[in-house]
Amino acid sequence: MASFKEIISTLPRRKGWTDYDIFLYQGFWCDTFFIEGVMRAQQSFRSQPSDIVICSAPKTGPTWLKSLTFAIVTRSTFDDSTNPLLSNLSHDCVPFLEVDLAQSSSNRDPNNPLLATHVPYSSLPRSIIDSSCKIVYICRDPKDSFVSNYLFFVRILASKDMKPLALEEAFELYCQGVSSYGPYWDHVLGFWKASLDRPDKILFLKYEEMMEDTAVYVKKLADFIGYPFSFEEIEKGSVEKIVNMCSFENLSKLEVNKSGKHREGTPVVIENKIYFRKGKVGDWENYLTPKMAARLDSITLQKLNGSGLTL
Ligand code: A3P
Repeated sequence: MASFKEIISTLPRRKGWTDYDIFLYQGFWCDTFFIEGVMRAQQSFRSQPSDIVICSAPKTGPTWLKSLTFAIVTRSTFDDSTNPLLSNLSHDCVPFLEVDLAQSSSNRDPNNPLLATHVPYSSLPRSIIDSSCKIVYICRDPKDSFVSNYLFFVRILASKDMKPLALEEAFELYCQGVSSYGPYWDHVLGFWKASLDRPDKILFLKYEEMMEDTAVYVKKLADFIGYPFSFEEIEKGSVEKIVNMCSFENLSKLEVNKSGKHREGTPVVIENKIYFRKGKVGDWENYLTPKMAARLDSITLQKLNGSGLTL
């Protein structure tokens, strides 16, 4: 049987946002490291009915959503001063399917039902789709997501002394659908359509709406994943405590998120602070020209046409 590397070497490829090629696997673009992880997970990952799978395209808000979901699920185990989110990046509290769980699920903490992935809906391991586990998906205005993505790459490459491509070049690739786990619109639509078909299984969230009234979405999220807040908890302010603990302002100033590193000692090591940039809606205005914004909006309108979804 061909190895994963051999299969990947036969896939369509092109230059991505770095010096390395990215490959088109099952309709989405990704680099070899992650495709290999996706292939392994597709082959061996077995989901449990109690699992809660946090899904997203990159740079749409999973750092925040993981924190909120982890805080909801662990609120009776830890108090405000002992929650692991205060001393760990949220990505270290929630295993990532195509990296941490690709080889085997045996390293999972049996008390933690959470896992996360960027894999598009149609490429998720079969057991996630077929089992009764819950999926929570977050998406974001593609203009902000693109800018966040680009600046994330710039910061990563700078930390490795590599030169990033120009914003205009990355923008052109993004518009063509060439971004990590992209085309972005296909990613969002896959989960959107599935959420309409299976509203009990998939909760579809938007970063902007969550920023508008986080407490409402924390309650909604807790109900959906089967960890609802009791009347007494609501009365004593448990929802607001989680909102505040997981706010950009709070998490970004924690020592671990200022000086810590994610996946230290691996080829994909990242400084935690790179995950916290501005956390604002509409920051694209500081980076995209009106013409670029109009182009992205028009692609979004065209791609989402008839779906009932607006971004
Ligand atoms: P910006 O780059 O626009 O600031 P990711 O997909 O890695 O989670 O990041 C997406 C965006 O979420 C980034 O946006 C990041 O700054 C922002 N973010 C990180 N933590 C957040 C939080 N606690 N609340 C709101 N936004 C957050």
